[in-house]
Amino acid sequence: MEKLKGRNLLSIKDLNSDELKKLLELATELKSGKKNLKCNKVLGLLFSKASTRTRVSFTVAMYQLGGQVIDLNPNVTQVSRGELLRDTARVLGRYLDILAIRTFEQKDLEDFANYAKIPIINALTDREHPCQILADLLTVKEYFGNLDGVTLSYFGDGNNVANSLLLGCAMVGINVRIATPENYMPNKEIVEEANTIAIANGKSEVIVTQNPQVAVKDTQVLYTDVWASMGQEQETNNRIPIFKPYQVNEKLLESAADDAIVLHCLPAHRDEEITDAVIEGDRSRVWEQAENRMHAQKALLVSLLGSD
Ligand code: CP
Ligand code: NVA
Repeated sequence: MEKLKGRNLLSIKDLNSDELKKLLELATELKSGKKNLKCNKVLGLLFSKASTRTRVSFTVAMYQLGGQVIDLNPNVTQVSRGELLRDTARVLGRYLDILAIRTFEQKDLEDFANYAKIPIINALTDREHPCQILADLLTVKEYFGNLDGVTLSYFGDGNNVANSLLLGCAMVGINVRIATPENYMPNKEIVEEANTIAIANGKSEVIVTQNPQVAVKDTQVLYTDVWASMGQEQETNNRIPIFKPYQVNEKLLESAADDAIVLHCLPAHRDEEITDAVIEGDRSRVWEQAENRMHAQKALLVSLLGSD
């Protein structure tokens, strides 16, 4: 993946459709052990929000590539004492080979990338979660054998995961349906972009609806995420009654395709956005999905850095 060397992944659409599909192929090869690449470089993790999967999967992926990782908790750096982001970026860019950032504003991530001059990866912002979508697509591809023409439906909050799913699915020819309450729709600009991508590739259909029944009919992948994302926790109690009709439960699953699978980016709030029976049930592929974070990000790291 020579073409990706030196680039950023701030949004899933920083890749074109072809690059995204190739990255998934590389992830499959690395996962199967058919390919064994090495990359003795240093990855920094600058996370302003909590993380289990992203932090650990990036760390293990980099170790397996023969590289090293520095976990830069903002509380132990001068970031917490107000050092300007652009100053931090210019300095870290001189030490590290690549940096994954988890923060709030997409704009901060973009500013950081402008100053750091090393590849910057979006490890989650309020707007997007592209690394998650790499793993999600890999999981769908493994189960159905292809991506083209598969239908994926997302239920709940039109958040960062929904935004990146819209773009990523449209890019690979997946029909994508997003069902959210009226005031919790995905980013309008992203919906338009996903529509434009879908029209251009002439393969996938994008549906944004408030009706979960419209989204679930014969769908092959049911996907959900928390109803209140990090930074919105104080809204949880107000949101529960609003989001209840969008819960992924056994009743909803009955209207999906017979071979439908269930995904969740995790962490999950059982019996809020997903029932315990569904996440523990035989349609759930959430643990494979979580494992795939590591394989997909290994392919991403080696593509952005180049192999030894
Ligand atoms: N799905 C995901 O990004 O998990 P973490 O918040 O644990 O990294
Ligand atoms: N939408 C969630 C995803 C967590 C991985 C959040 O931003 O908190």
